[in-house]
Amino acid sequence: MKSDSSKRFPQEGRRRLILPPPVGLIGTDAPDPALKWLRELADGNTVMMMGDNPALPRMPDAPRLLDFFKHRFGSITVRHLLNSAKQAMEQGQNETVVIACLLHDISNGALIRADHGYWAAQMIAPYVSEEVAWAVKYHQALRYFADPEVGYEYPESYAKFFGTDYVPPDYIQRDAEFARAHKWYMTSRLVTLNDVYFFEKTDPIDPHIFDDIIGRNFRQPKEGLGFDNSPVAHMWRTMIWPNNFL
Ligand SMILES: [Fe+2]
Ligand SMILES: [Fe+2]
Repeated sequence: MKSDSSKRFPQEGRRRLILPPPVGLIGTDAPDPALKWLRELADGNTVMMMGDNPALPRMPDAPRLLDFFKHRFGSITVRHLLNSAKQAMEQGQNETVVIACLLHDISNGALIRADHGYWAAQMIAPYVSEEVAWAVKYHQALRYFADPEVGYEYPESYAKFFGTDYVPPDYIQRDAEFARAHKWYMTSRLVTLNDVYFFEKTDPIDPHIFDDIIGRNFRQPKEGLGFDNSPVAHMWRTMIWPNNFL
């Protein structure tokens, strides 16, 4: 169902303040405007942002997976996910691997970066097979550990991101070891093998080339992602309304 573009925005006529989430501010140089802004509410015409932000494309009333790719995810994530999945598809990998590649970093798209594999796995768990969610969860840990037997080397990009002497924490080492011995190891490993960065501009990929694979491997709730009362609906709503004060 499409959203009604003539629908009015909430809080119309008011000055809307957007307070960045604490997890995006803490430990950075960015000033926390909370106290200053709380005082500004006293003018009677200033409110904290709630609901549709006029600066963002309006989401349909019942959003589907690709609506988040189109209207919410950052361009680097979109390019990365589409290229990873396309590469897996062109290699002739099975649909479990292709959909896992398409979804593996969706947490970075518009929600959160830290522990992104774990977040992404939870976000998709109600809608995909257990194996897909598993592969997405463990790709995060497996990325740090080479497996030359299957052609996976430690990523050069990680040496740049984290420094050449970076040692992953215990829980990452433990989870990678667990994943290595699991029957679905290669599904997750194939995500890491196709986890290629495309920082340069690449030819645009039409996300709809994945329509059939999504149709068979991602159960889109009829109420829309965010509104199906699933245990993870709030995560999708947070991406629909990322600027809500509460
Ligand atoms: Fe990742
Ligand atoms: Fe990735």
